[in-house]
Amino acid sequence: MLTPEENDLMCRVENGMPMGDIFRRHWMPACLIEEVAEPDGTPRKIRLLGEDLVVFRDTDGKVGILDEQCPHRRASLVYGRNEECGLRCLYHGWKFDVDGNCTDMSSEPAGTGLAEKIKLKSYPVREAAGFVWTYMGPRRIHAGIRAAGVPADAGNADRNIQDDRKLQLGADPGRRNRFRPFLFPALFGHGAGPGSGRGRNRR
Ligand code: FES
Repeated sequence: MLTPEENDLMCRVENGMPMGDIFRRHWMPACLIEEVAEPDGTPRKIRLLGEDLVVFRDTDGKVGILDEQCPHRRASLVYGRNEECGLRCLYHGWKFDVDGNCTDMSSEPAGTGLAEKIKLKSYPVREAAGFVWTYMGPRRIHAGIRAAGVPADAGNADRNIQDDRKLQLGADPGRRNRFRPFLFPALFGHGAGPGSGRGRNRR
């Protein structure tokens, strides 16, 4: 029987928790590509490793994963307008591109320079094998991660996110095994990143 402390050690995945830090050293499936297939389509809310995020595909087809809350007054960007290469907050109209840059701040007078100082949290994105993947760890580590090959013929991608602590890849058992190396490279001796050029890599 685990103690509450041991249970927290194994199960808590927030940033700064031991398990959270381990998972943040790996590419994680965030959602299905088909959920954000349409440029300027409806943004999707996800909760990953204890963080509330919004996923959207911009006008140019690039996928962004941003902090769900607008940095102005914390309105949810899930309800934002996805238009002209950015997600526009419905409250006061601040607009963010897929990298979290504030590209329009219509609530402020022109020339204040405030928009250039605003940066919304964003995560790197890859598309492969039917999934949108993201890397939530330190960028200096991300830069050195070797891209490992996710099978391009991964079959019928599906997902089953039970809550923010348990994320399961819904697939046939054989395919699920093929994903394990990306989640646990230290155990399986593989690299830790999706996208070997066989899937779509947006950026
Ligand atoms: S809360 Fe988003 S622009 Fe004000």
